[in-house]
Amino acid sequence: TPTIAVVIVAAGSGTRLGYDEPKAFVPLGDGTVLSTAVAGALGMASAPHLVLVVPDDRVDTTRSSFEPVVAAASAALDVVSGGDTRQQSVSRGLAVLPPGIDTVLVHDAARALTPSLVFDEVAAAVHARNRGVVPALDVVDTIKRVGVDGSVVETVDRSQLRAVQTPQGFPRRALDHAYATARAEFTDDAALVQSAGLAVDVVPGDVRAFKITVPADLRRAEQLVAERTR
Ligand code: C5P
Repeated sequence: TPTIAVVIVAAGSGTRLGYDEPKAFVPLGDGTVLSTAVAGALGMASAPHLVLVVPDDRVDTTRSSFEPVVAAASAALDVVSGGDTRQQSVSRGLAVLPPGIDTVLVHDAARALTPSLVFDEVAAAVHARNRGVVPALDVVDTIKRVGVDGSVVETVDRSQLRAVQTPQGFPRRALDHAYATARAEFTDDAALVQSAGLAVDVVPGDVRAFKITVPADLRRAEQLVAERTR
């Protein structure tokens, strides 16, 4: 039985992508954004317990469409409905985890092309360090802090900055504790866990783990999928 769970949040509306469908259900390659993300998780060295968090009206169809591929990978599947915010969606995913899971990876469906190796590396680092672990990239742009009037206040030292991605991995007990005690909304799970006083490290991320947000991102994703299958 797997001791690693991957919670994939896919309940966002994704209006910036310009589709009527929720972002995770937009076509990508032969499948969708979500099916591409699921394939990344199921490609892990050992099959995870998979939790998909989707819009309320997609729970049943998602369960029936992913059951075969998840069973073929000898993985387990739960599908639950999401909430109004990403944090609520993650929380609903965590609520259905069975006992026996000791490591949880939380992943954005929108980071559909994240290589399976990143999932494995994050999970291995969580095991080895017993801390939160997030994949991150160096920041290539020069970053400036600006005032409300648009005037530059300062240039931030980018050598100290990282752009963080998902999957973000945590010891299950730490993540459960942080979610149970969170009293604010955070933009990622690492921030929520840190707010509970728990340690988080970064490991190298991957450019392919970019978040599909605007139409140009979807075109880039299509290109990467086409190159992969060539
Ligand atoms: O909107 P954004 O791209 O930041 O969302 C990140 C991820 O969180 C997406 O995969 C999206 O589907 C998910 N999400 C969610 N529930 C929400 C909002 C976002 O599952 N209420």
